[in-house]
Amino acid sequence: MIVSTQALFKHAYGQYAVGAYNINNAEQIMGLFRGNMDSQAPFIIQISQGARGYTDKRLLEAMIRAADQIFPDALFAVHLDHGDEATCMDCLAGGFYSSVMIDASHEPFDQNVAITGRVVDAAHKRKIAVEAELGRLGGVEEHVSVDEANAKLTDLRQVKEFVERTGCDSLACAIGTSHGAYKFTGSQGIHFEIIEQIQKLLPGFPLVMHGSSSVPQDEVRRINAAGGKLKGAKGVDEAQISKAGKMGVTKVNIDTDGRLVWCRAHRESFRDKPENFDLRSPGKIFMAEYAKYIVHKNDVLGSSGKLPEVKEFLKR
Ligand code: G3H
Ligand code: 13P
Ligand code: ZN
Repeated sequence: MIVSTQALFKHAYGQYAVGAYNINNAEQIMGLFRGNMDSQAPFIIQISQGARGYTDKRLLEAMIRAADQIFPDALFAVHLDHGDEATCMDCLAGGFYSSVMIDASHEPFDQNVAITGRVVDAAHKRKIAVEAELGRLGGVEEHVSVDEANAKLTDLRQVKEFVERTGCDSLACAIGTSHGAYKFTGSQGIHFEIIEQIQKLLPGFPLVMHGSSSVPQDEVRRINAAGGKLKGAKGVDEAQISKAGKMGVTKVNIDTDGRLVWCRAHRESFRDKPENFDLRSPGKIFMAEYAKYIVHKNDVLGSSGKLPEVKEFLKR
């Protein structure tokens, strides 16, 4: 069942984080639902602008509706990841999304406030929640690339004013993580002091951690052993993710790790069966392996086994 993102946050706050997993195709959707059902976890399914344009946004929506029928016990929210204003408005008009992220973090503060405020106004009229970003994460998304020199940690002096002026429902903060498979190339680490301070400034307000893939080194090794060339790939320490989940980070965004599982499953499958050209062979392996990854990650986040409790919580 598609549920409200805010309700999931309310249940999770301070106890655990909900996994927000990006999807682009049918195999990712199947693996994601299977994994979350296996671990009995609520989750957030994220669609980026790039994902909406990869095949067709209508196809993704239809596949998610179908998955909802195939897995009637699943509880999940549907979220637009890193939207610009036009895409947010399109998602709001479509009525399918539980929440949208407006990412105007690359704009100067007042512009970020103005753009975010317009999206919040439109979203709240439709009872849809808005995640906004303050600060600037490093790394690569399909439409934005920010190098380390231009990444900017969330400025604590702006946080309260930003949330009050925009009316946003959750905040993505830049705390030292970056998008993609090459994190922490410099000396930086996660800035827990920023999370701690924001929690003090905004008690009970849901925070979001982007760039949270752990880039499992075994995946990287296997990909490289099967012909890949991922040199120096590195992610977030899982113990740090668990810690953040107890500090008001209610949503943890993961995309890259899923891509690594996909890459490993396909490279190994074609290496081991060079005569094969049937896409279903690696596809089946990927779905099973991605489900396993989700089970593991939900353990790290603390969302495993929470499904029955959340179901009860939503009835109240
Ligand atoms: O934060 C970015 C996500 O990993 C989405 O990536 O824009 O390439 O779909 P994408
Ligand atoms: P990763 O690249 O670390 O998976 O981060 C994904 C993300 O933040 C999506 O918004
Ligand atoms: Zn992100």
